[in-house]
Amino acid sequence: MNDNKKEIIRLLRGSEGNPVSGQEIGEKLGITRAMVWKYIRGLRREGYDIRSSPKTGYILDACPDIIDPVELKGLLKTSLVGSEINYYSVLESTNNTAREIAQKAPEGTVIIAEKQNKGRGRLGTEWQSASGGIWMSLILKPSIPLENVSRVTLVAGIAVTNALRNMDIDAHIKWPNDVLIRGKKICGILTEVSAEVQKVDHVILGIGINANVKLSDLSEDIRRNSTSISNEMGKVIDRNRFVASLLYELEQQYIIFKTKKFIDIVDEWINLSDTIGRNVRVTTPNRIIEGKAVGITEKGALVILDGNHERHEIIAGNCRYIN
Ligand code: BTN
Repeated sequence: MNDNKKEIIRLLRGSEGNPVSGQEIGEKLGITRAMVWKYIRGLRREGYDIRSSPKTGYILDACPDIIDPVELKGLLKTSLVGSEINYYSVLESTNNTAREIAQKAPEGTVIIAEKQNKGRGRLGTEWQSASGGIWMSLILKPSIPLENVSRVTLVAGIAVTNALRNMDIDAHIKWPNDVLIRGKKICGILTEVSAEVQKVDHVILGIGINANVKLSDLSEDIRRNSTSISNEMGKVIDRNRFVASLLYELEQQYIIFKTKKFIDIVDEWINLSDTIGRNVRVTTPNRIIEGKAVGITEKGALVILDGNHERHEIIAGNCRYIN
């Protein structure tokens, strides 16, 4: 988009629903009113819903649903998370691209794509990246031992849940890293790590959120247990604002992670959890445990009490609720 168009959008956004006259825009940009009108028509063709009244001026009613890295950067209130934003219109998987650049990229770099052709889920599953979603990966470089990486996933779950709750959406976390609304999945998190011996080199937090995803664009089996923000709110949300708020929450949680005791994070996670107190069946590569989920350990493992009151700590697995 050219600079004049960007500036017109910025002025109209800044007026918060009040009309801005063609004369005022023209004076600020040093162009004629006829030129302003030409740019407005161009913006309309790009999907901006701009009302015009000859007496009062222009009002921005709605923006097209696109992730715009320039706009996103302008909305950021973070210093580390999102310090670099690499935007792509199409990628195979943001986690793959993050992995390729992670070694050299500064901590806090975000890879975000409008589309993913080969989105990946946990445990080798495919992740359906329908249009309108938020598909992003965040590169972090915490100085932690490998065994504590699961903690970072819990931190991310808290951040996503907080960002959704900021919009009055009643989100909860399902262990280990799904975010649910009314029991339906809205977000999945894929944490991948590179480490040398026992020391973490970098962590890639892959976050997929069904923001403005139409449920009809998901396959039937996935749709049954999924929802999206637009489906819950009954309207298309501004993804740039939502991503900015999510990156803010991620930064806040990362600061807490680095400066406070992990038990504080565990307490917060349990507060937001949908899993604790439920009867669950957790499948791991070598066993299936059934019982009541009663807590989370310092390592991020789920604690299950089985029918014989035996205690199990599971660090990774597929969790289903039963009865
Ligand atoms: C899951 O619940 O199975 C985790 C899904 C993680 C999906 C996100 S979308 C952005 C990032 N890129 C990927 O390929 N996967 C993650």
